[in-house]
Amino acid sequence: MADYHLEASWRPIEGSFGRLTFTLFNLSTEPLSGFSLAYTSETRVADKHVCDGGSLKRRLAHFHEFLPPDGLSVSPAGRWRFTIEGLSREPKHATSGIKSAYLTLGDGRHVPVGFGALMLEGRDGGVAPPLLPPGRVEEPYALLPWPLALGLKAGDLPDVLYPVERSRPDAGKALSLVLALYQRLYPAENAPFSLAALKGGRAIRFVTESSIAAFAYELRFSSHEIVLSSADAAGRQYGLISLAQLLHGARADRESFKFPNFGAIADQPRYDWRGCHLDVSRQFYPVADVERLIDILAWNKLSIFHWHLTDDEAWRLEIKAYPALTEIGARRGPDEVLVPQLGDGAEPRSGHYTQDDVSRIVAHAASLHIEVVPEIDIPGHSSATLLSLPALVDGQEAPDSYRAVQGYPNNALNPAVDFTYEFLGKVFDEMVTLFPSEYLHIGGDEVARGSWLSSPLCKALMEREKLSGTAELQSYFLKRIKAMLSERGRKLAGWNEVSHGGGVERDGTLLMAWEKPAVGIELAEEGYEVVMTPGQAYYLDMAQAEAWAEPGAAWAGFSPPEHTYAYEAEGELPEALRQKMRGIQACIWTENFLSRAYFNRLVFPRLSAVAEAAWTPSARKDWDRFAAIVRMWPVL
Ligand code: ACM
Repeated sequence: MADYHLEASWRPIEGSFGRLTFTLFNLSTEPLSGFSLAYTSETRVADKHVCDGGSLKRRLAHFHEFLPPDGLSVSPAGRWRFTIEGLSREPKHATSGIKSAYLTLGDGRHVPVGFGALMLEGRDGGVAPPLLPPGRVEEPYALLPWPLALGLKAGDLPDVLYPVERSRPDAGKALSLVLALYQRLYPAENAPFSLAALKGGRAIRFVTESSIAAFAYELRFSSHEIVLSSADAAGRQYGLISLAQLLHGARADRESFKFPNFGAIADQPRYDWRGCHLDVSRQFYPVADVERLIDILAWNKLSIFHWHLTDDEAWRLEIKAYPALTEIGARRGPDEVLVPQLGDGAEPRSGHYTQDDVSRIVAHAASLHIEVVPEIDIPGHSSATLLSLPALVDGQEAPDSYRAVQGYPNNALNPAVDFTYEFLGKVFDEMVTLFPSEYLHIGGDEVARGSWLSSPLCKALMEREKLSGTAELQSYFLKRIKAMLSERGRKLAGWNEVSHGGGVERDGTLLMAWEKPAVGIELAEEGYEVVMTPGQAYYLDMAQAEAWAEPGAAWAGFSPPEHTYAYEAEGELPEALRQKMRGIQACIWTENFLSRAYFNRLVFPRLSAVAEAAWTPSARKDWDRFAAIVRMWPVL
């Protein structure tokens, strides 16, 4: 139990982003004096602010440290109150406030401080409507994503499904792999498959049929056997997952769902790129969590795991050439090089993936027909990198000469420092041995306006290469990165800002349109391949309703699950540009994700909504059916 407690409330004020009031309660038996109070918060204090009752000592992005007035002593059961006007943006939800807090005492010790949600003063916060209706099915089959075509008649529920005798060994292996997936996702349920034939069960006959499209499968049902046809192992696996889903639904809710004994399913994905991204920089997810998320992606028939491994807040990937990246850059704490952020309290926290961890995760994903696309976010979002390897900085650049939107000063790798390319070359060398993916994602997002303009090395580079401004410097940098990836046989994936300042060669470049849907059209017009991942529908960190009490971020508005489900990214693109669209992707940015319960509350059922939009043609989407089925689907 913490001996101190911090409450925060926010009052709207016309013409500004409002006022925060903080109250620190001394719950100990000793007077408190000669201390500072640190907290991390999504709502940040602006440079220009007025603090009444205290003063800001230090702030870096979401980290804030305040001092009480000189000589203040807070008696036992007493309190210290201070207010701040001048915020970086208006808080919209109860989760927009404190994420962690601690005191630093006169002797240098750090002690924990409990805290509450951000309270709203003087305004009604509204009430969130139910996010998921009970749902209703017309066809009683628990399939999600819903198949391309289906004509079925319901029959008796088989006890278990098993391969016909003399099935090829690879078919038995495929069945046992999906059985293991099911057992991990639903450890308390009965197995849907058995390798051995069983009376009361039903046989699956596996057929390889080269006329079927890649990733597609067909299932033909009769009362004595099921024929699963596919051209490839991925299609076969999708077919087996469909069978496991059918059986799972029919067992879990016998009223609503049935197992077919007549008819057929002919199915194939709408897009190849059916992605889910996870930010492991802001919050670290252990290997077991990453593997479970990958299992959930497989159950929802997603095909890409986009692993956001680095950001300002941490570098999480072991690079043997530069151990400092994870020794320094994956550890945050009050006395560490990286200060606490986004939920870190009095104790340091660290976490990274060893190369063995990565190989395990990549192999796990590959066995489920999921490609892992790793991202190292450059040139922006690189505070952790620059603090770990100071030789990457132009020593003559003015400190704090530009700030990222998240508040980090001078956080971009410098395109005019030779070591930048030597460093990245070695990082890419190690990454290509770890990740067999077609693409390496290099970020490219949110380089702050004015970046590098006070770096003498960049000024000289601009003169030599006739470049004007940050965007052209960025394009110069990314063209070199593109060439480095091409030398290593990889294509470049990045966020939509990669196109700025002239962009990079279109061929072999895939960009993710995140800022708004219209960006996707511009990218396609410019000749890039596009994955649509608009914050307004597919960023699963956004709140799901406008109400103050609804948890989540708000910069892109709010996305109820029904909106995420109904959203049609393809509809944003004119017909002539549709062949440029590779697919869609959900993004899980984790600034606010302080617990598993929060993760599940925000990510589900919207992740499955994106999965169905990625697989099922728009004409076959049905919100009520989705709602009825998704409640039986697994969470982290
Ligand atoms: C992003 O959300 N900065 C890609």
